[in-house]
Amino acid sequence: MITIISSTNRKNSVSKQVALQYQEILQELAIESTIIDLEHLPSDFITSALYENQGTNVDFNPIRDHMKEAQKFVFIVPEYNGSFPGILKTFLDALEFPGTLKGKKCAMVGLSSGIQGGVMAMSHLTDIFNYLGMHVMAAKPKLTRVNGLMEGGKITDESSIRRLKDQAQAFIDF
Ligand SMILES: Cc1cc2nc3c(=O)[nH]c(=O)nc-3n(C[C@H](O)[C@H](O)[C@H](O)COP(=O)(O)O)c2cc1C
Repeated sequence: MITIISSTNRKNSVSKQVALQYQEILQELAIESTIIDLEHLPSDFITSALYENQGTNVDFNPIRDHMKEAQKFVFIVPEYNGSFPGILKTFLDALEFPGTLKGKKCAMVGLSSGIQGGVMAMSHLTDIFNYLGMHVMAAKPKLTRVNGLMEGGKITDESSIRRLKDQAQAFIDF
């Protein structure tokens, strides 16, 4: 079982579309997955799931518990201001520390409307995950100028699809 995280709370995000497509790729490889979409974090998450309120938000707790139980994650990471979205860091800050991610494994896919494809976003996130003791797979596809790779809400660019499929297979074996 793999947990795919769509790492933004922006409505109708491209990240969500890529997360759904990644789920299909895993399905084709006979691997079950579930998606955590940060768009659906409880609306009072920032004021009632952090710091002194850790573990007390009944709507967030099932997500927090899922993150504790899950062993493998794929983060779909859009590039926001040259890094990953702030909501993702806030989400990580709301997880039980230490231990939620320690010794676990993750893969990342970066995407941007510009030319970087989230390369710095994934680098920043890799630093954090390594600090937390999570193993990050080296293959990190970068979907640059992502809108040009898509049609009808799906990636149609053959070489991008191939990189996602190769990564998914490698992550299953990771
Ligand atoms: C707050 C914000 C900051 C952004 N910063 C960048 C950026 O630094 N570089 C870039 O290429 N695209 C940037 N974008 C565009 C996103 O990369 C683009 O929206 C892409 O589709 C992935 O984000 P999405 O999952 O929210 O759709 C930004 C978008 C937002 C909402």
